[in-house]
Amino acid sequence: MVERIWDTPEITGWRRVPAHAVRHDLDGPDRRLSLDGTWRFQLLGNPEQAAGDDWTGIRVPGAWTVQDAGGDDLPHYTNVTMPWPGAPLLLPEHNPTGVYERDFDVPAAWAGRRIVLHVGAAESVLLARVNGVEVGWGKDSHLAGEFDITAAVRVGQANTVRLTVIKWSDASAIEDQDQWWHAGLTRSVFLYSTGTTYLGDLRTVASADGRLQVDARVLTTGSVLPEGWGVTTELDGVPVPRDTAHEQAQIADDRVSDWWAEPRFTTVVPDVVPWSDETPALHTLTVVLHDADGAELDRTENRVGFRDVEIRGLDLLVNGVRVMIRGVNRHDFDPVTGRTVTAEQMRADLVLMKRHGFNAVRTSHYPNDPVLLDLADELGLYVVDEANIEVHDHAHEICDDVRYLPAFVDRVARMVSRDRNHPSVIIWSLGNESDYGANHDAAAGWLRRADPTRPLQYEGAIKDNWTGGIAGSDIVCPMYPTLPQIVEHARSGEQNRPLIMCEYSHAMGNSNGTLADHWAAIESTPGLQGGFIWEFWDHGILQRLSDGRPAGGSFFRDGVADPGYRWAYGGDFGDTPNDGTFCADGLVFPDRTPKPAMDEHRELASPIRISDAGDGLVRIVNRLGFRGLDWLSAVWDVDGSPVPMTLPDLGPGEEAMVPVPGDASWLTLRVSVGQDQPWAPAGTPLASPQIQLRPPVRALAVTAGTPAEVDDDGLLIHPALASSPRLSLWRAPTDNDRIGGQAARWRDLGLVSPSRRVTEIRREADRTVVEAVYETAAGPVLHRQTSRLLQGVVVVQEEVTLPDGLDDVPRVGTVFHVRAGYDEMSWFGHGPRDTYPDRHAGGPVGAYDCRIDDAFTPYLRPQESGGRHGVQRLSLTGPDVPPVELTTGEPRQVSVTRFTAADLDTAAHHDELTPRAEAVVHLDAAHRGLGTASCGPDTLPQYLVTAGVYRWEWSLG
Ligand code: GAL
Repeated sequence: MVERIWDTPEITGWRRVPAHAVRHDLDGPDRRLSLDGTWRFQLLGNPEQAAGDDWTGIRVPGAWTVQDAGGDDLPHYTNVTMPWPGAPLLLPEHNPTGVYERDFDVPAAWAGRRIVLHVGAAESVLLARVNGVEVGWGKDSHLAGEFDITAAVRVGQANTVRLTVIKWSDASAIEDQDQWWHAGLTRSVFLYSTGTTYLGDLRTVASADGRLQVDARVLTTGSVLPEGWGVTTELDGVPVPRDTAHEQAQIADDRVSDWWAEPRFTTVVPDVVPWSDETPALHTLTVVLHDADGAELDRTENRVGFRDVEIRGLDLLVNGVRVMIRGVNRHDFDPVTGRTVTAEQMRADLVLMKRHGFNAVRTSHYPNDPVLLDLADELGLYVVDEANIEVHDHAHEICDDVRYLPAFVDRVARMVSRDRNHPSVIIWSLGNESDYGANHDAAAGWLRRADPTRPLQYEGAIKDNWTGGIAGSDIVCPMYPTLPQIVEHARSGEQNRPLIMCEYSHAMGNSNGTLADHWAAIESTPGLQGGFIWEFWDHGILQRLSDGRPAGGSFFRDGVADPGYRWAYGGDFGDTPNDGTFCADGLVFPDRTPKPAMDEHRELASPIRISDAGDGLVRIVNRLGFRGLDWLSAVWDVDGSPVPMTLPDLGPGEEAMVPVPGDASWLTLRVSVGQDQPWAPAGTPLASPQIQLRPPVRALAVTAGTPAEVDDDGLLIHPALASSPRLSLWRAPTDNDRIGGQAARWRDLGLVSPSRRVTEIRREADRTVVEAVYETAAGPVLHRQTSRLLQGVVVVQEEVTLPDGLDDVPRVGTVFHVRAGYDEMSWFGHGPRDTYPDRHAGGPVGAYDCRIDDAFTPYLRPQESGGRHGVQRLSLTGPDVPPVELTTGEPRQVSVTRFTAADLDTAAHHDELTPRAEAVVHLDAAHRGLGTASCGPDTLPQYLVTAGVYRWEWSLG
């Protein structure tokens, strides 16, 4: 036995069954026996303590950190920082160690067969014992450990399996990903059985031209393969012939040695539909191993997709086509279980991605649950499959440390061995943020030889030099470059590989500004091919407020509507050190509700684009790579009125002209799924490309209004107002504003609540003019408000002069409160959800309405939210109050919420906020873009609010 494997990096595992791609998911008493369910459990203070008799129950699969059985060992969130200081191998004395135990019976039919224990994932070191016999050890928290337990089990009698999981180990330092630290058995545990001669591995290579090669590996538990064994393979029920020319065959039955054989089968399938993201055609491959009498010894079923992936010049080609990678980074995450995810949940993730235009997933930053790849094959998503290596805190020390060399190679090799048969996997990744060292090149060397059919990438290899790191990356895969950086690189003439960003557009809070600018550049610049948004999930953990514990113990699943729960982030479990909200940076909330940024992505990925071709014609372009438009349906929206249309018959990339269907300012094509797709039923909306055929009419509405009141300054105000309209230069900092440093600068400039001094009040004929000065650290801001009553409507004109020192502020606009009683809003502008100056492509202009309470998006940390871009008209109504109509003359940024900027700014969670009965209305002459500065580039210069004179006008009637 090996002592202290948990602080010995040279040892990655002991007595594990070699990783392979043979599937053992065929359930049935003679094949597979699930061990999921409730196990006996006890948590020790370190791995050297002996387990006692004090057992409690725990659910498997499931991390103990979110279950009551885990006691005080709760989730802990850090980004880069390791949870304990000092050298990676000096492990903390308190090293929670979970002992899981249960009894099981082995089916009598398994007598004489080989029996394997499969442990889907254990974080971070696993020791397996059966009936007191140590059967093996393993590391890598995101790949299965399998152990041959044939000799240890007693068929027909009760057996006991004990799985000891050690939380902290030498491996923790190379699993230092930006996510919650958990511990436990996080994926399913089962037993499977095979004959003593069995399928040890299976490799398939299927090309877009229909060529299929299947390599089966036949092994035996004895020293010699029995005479007469045989393998047959079928594709969709049609036999695949044995390749008699297979050069590895040494003797007639394809033995490589006495105990190892590799029969190869090859065929060409005629008229194959190539697999792609748009056409995920799959075929069923059955492989059966039998003995001399024809009795079945082992069997596996695999799905095969015929596709090619290659790099030609600066392009990554799938089936010869330069596909755009519209990707997103995904963790295995669940707000209740932490890491354990079911097939249904993963399907829901991918379905949501597909419906929002994503065609690719990077399995950040480790091999995701294997079912994810099945689903990606089936639904049509490209996958960058990433090895479980992130050495963030100790990157430089470890990437060249020879003690960790086996772990680097092992993690890459075991991932490839598991996942190589999936058509969805088009690129391998060596891991994340671990500097770049010899250990990486060693892993890359293994990989290039083992799987020459796919490119590999690693961001660390190109980090400092986009033309270097050739051994470690076939793709320039930077994270968070600026837009000019990628465009300049692509135009420099020096680019030597495709450029696909492994991370971009950080989705933390109210974010993803400039996504449209990114895609405009990507689509128009040869050499740029897309990237992966960071990230899919907000990793908020459902927390019970009564005792501050994760809700996992009770498996509460009804979302956070219950006021007894909230989404917890770093620090909320008393975890230190921590990185706070930085784990809440996804496109979907912890319960998978899409944030408004998802609308933006969906629109930018629209399969159809339209443009005004002049002469009463609209150009319609099919933007797909492999399909026509026959599976889609569309209807024109002519200034809000539907007009039926039939999509032209267009192949990939083709375009057609059609007549403008009617006289309109805004012409929108409502595109939806026309025929059921595996990821969306017919009728699912996909995009609303829109063109403006006539400029908007810039006028203030004049309606029969209510008589105005006069405020303390003599300004005419509408009686529905609960406060006078004031200048606002501040917004509740978004995560981007806060972490990007702008918020602190704005506070220093005194923009939060600058003192106001009225300098002059004048009454001129029908109007009142109030001049005021707002004091800021950059000097006085002059503000003039003129109000008058025009046909029963209060019309306000405003002018503000920002001094030179205020060259980048969050907003210039008006804020006022509307009395209680208003609960609905309707508007004409971008919608239906939040839109901002640099994020409104996903919100076509039109007439919308919603409840005021629903207009606000509850980002995990309260912040600016609920904005509507390009609003010209807004009405507020309530059952017992007269309606109020706001017009803005020209399209403005507007928001109506129950919170002031100060309310939002001072709260750290939503449960700390009390919605006001009044409505807080912001009407901005200018509003700063959102950018992505919490990690990556800020907004672009054109979306900044700079020094100068601002004039705006609005009316309330
Ligand atoms: C990247 C990293 C991700 C995440 C992101 C910021 O550097 O790869 O894991 O930390 O930044 O949210």
